[in-house]
Amino acid sequence: MRIKDCILAIDQGTTSTRAIIFAPDSSIIAVAQQEFTQHYPNDGWVEHNPEDIWTSTIVVCRQAISEAIAKGARIAAIGVTNQRETTVVWDRNTGQAIYNAIVWQDRRTAKTCREMQDKGLFDVVNSRTGLLLDPYFSASKVAWILDNVEGAREKAEAGDLAFGTIDSFLIWRLTDGQMHATDVTNASRTNLFNIHDMAWDPKLLEVFNVPKSVLPQVKECADDFGHTTEDLFGFSLPILGVAGDQQAASIGQCCFNEGAIKSTYGTGCFVMLNTGTKAFHSKNKLLTTVAYTIKGETHYALEGSIFIAGAAIQWLRDGLGVIKSASETEALAKSLDDDHGVYMVPAFAGLGAPHWAPDARGAVFGLTRGTTNAHFVRAALESVCYQTSDLLHAMAEDGVSLDKIRVDGGMVGNNWLCQFLAGILDVTVERPKIMETTALGAAYLAGLKAGIYESCEQLASMNEVENSFDAKMPSSQRRKLIAGWENAVQSTLGYTK
Ligand code: G3P
Repeated sequence: MRIKDCILAIDQGTTSTRAIIFAPDSSIIAVAQQEFTQHYPNDGWVEHNPEDIWTSTIVVCRQAISEAIAKGARIAAIGVTNQRETTVVWDRNTGQAIYNAIVWQDRRTAKTCREMQDKGLFDVVNSRTGLLLDPYFSASKVAWILDNVEGAREKAEAGDLAFGTIDSFLIWRLTDGQMHATDVTNASRTNLFNIHDMAWDPKLLEVFNVPKSVLPQVKECADDFGHTTEDLFGFSLPILGVAGDQQAASIGQCCFNEGAIKSTYGTGCFVMLNTGTKAFHSKNKLLTTVAYTIKGETHYALEGSIFIAGAAIQWLRDGLGVIKSASETEALAKSLDDDHGVYMVPAFAGLGAPHWAPDARGAVFGLTRGTTNAHFVRAALESVCYQTSDLLHAMAEDGVSLDKIRVDGGMVGNNWLCQFLAGILDVTVERPKIMETTALGAAYLAGLKAGIYESCEQLASMNEVENSFDAKMPSSQRRKLIAGWENAVQSTLGYTK
């Protein structure tokens, strides 16, 4: 059987790289995944080796392509989606990175951001970018690399260095240096991009001390990002779609209308509300960001960013050895009649929205001699739901009301989590039939540019919900649980190392 017009989606995430090949009806033809090493060279530092990112990308693409071709698929194009903000600086002449990728979770520039805040630069940054002065975003990371790698500033001034988020780095490598580009969504996470003018902002380049010469060209999400060289996969493929992973998940969930909202549970958790063609300014420390630009039309989003979600489960597995696999967590959580007063605040990379406390450290409260692995697991799952509730609470303070939320990401296969989430949020939680929404979003973008899909409306008509979880928790219980969580967060914020 020949399946024409398939799309290869590359999903380069924080802990693993995946390649998924979608048929035009969005069914999955082939999947390949590879985890790679996380480096923690210092307190609060998180790095990736760019060569691991590149090698894992090529390995998973080759695996998925050969499986798909064996099934009779013909691949038409590539869509790329990626962990956002993570920063790479490389030499334009050799293509080699001059330092490891500094990951979005990395806190090394917290002091720089505080000093900028003290100099009164918050409004300059926030009004132009919709973001905050936090080490999460790329700008302070680029400056750190230029200031700390010997000779880097001089090379940058001479035009020999390139900066990119992971999408940019991969596109450069896939096209053998022919294309140095990013898309509007990734650009909007750097703290250097003016989301109203939709261009790099000279004032921001000045305040962060980043030279213009290192910046990539910024394109729409469904656009021409060059062709892969033939030697990589045995034939050349056009790269026609790019978006940061949270925006891609929103596109994969078909959140094209104003008011549509999704929450993705990967390494972190990111809630994104489509606010239409106008940028909505939060008064409650949520981010304003670019949702997408497709066929000349830009949509904005209001975003709440939580740094640790699935990473808490990964820590229980790899750090503490409390579980062998994430799939055990549902049964363990269910095995308890309630949480027994145990709360985990997983501030392992500081706290993101709505607290923005880069120096906060994780904590577990309410331990007794009877506390077991199951309590740790349940507290970790619950913490993800409470943090989502904090975000929705901040959105409500900004005047947003909602009665349902679309969820996706690795964690939402856990029915217990979805049900508890619905109860804590007091809204209906909808899980899509295709849970690989991040990769699907990238495939949709490439498919739009390739002409396989005509419009966002056509994509929305293909969207299917697999399961809905209605809120069943009594409000008295919800209030009590949330009060316990708030208490735990306040205690965590009060702790200093
Ligand atoms: O902003 C960081 C985000 O893009 C990371 O996503 O999927 O690795 O949790 P993920």
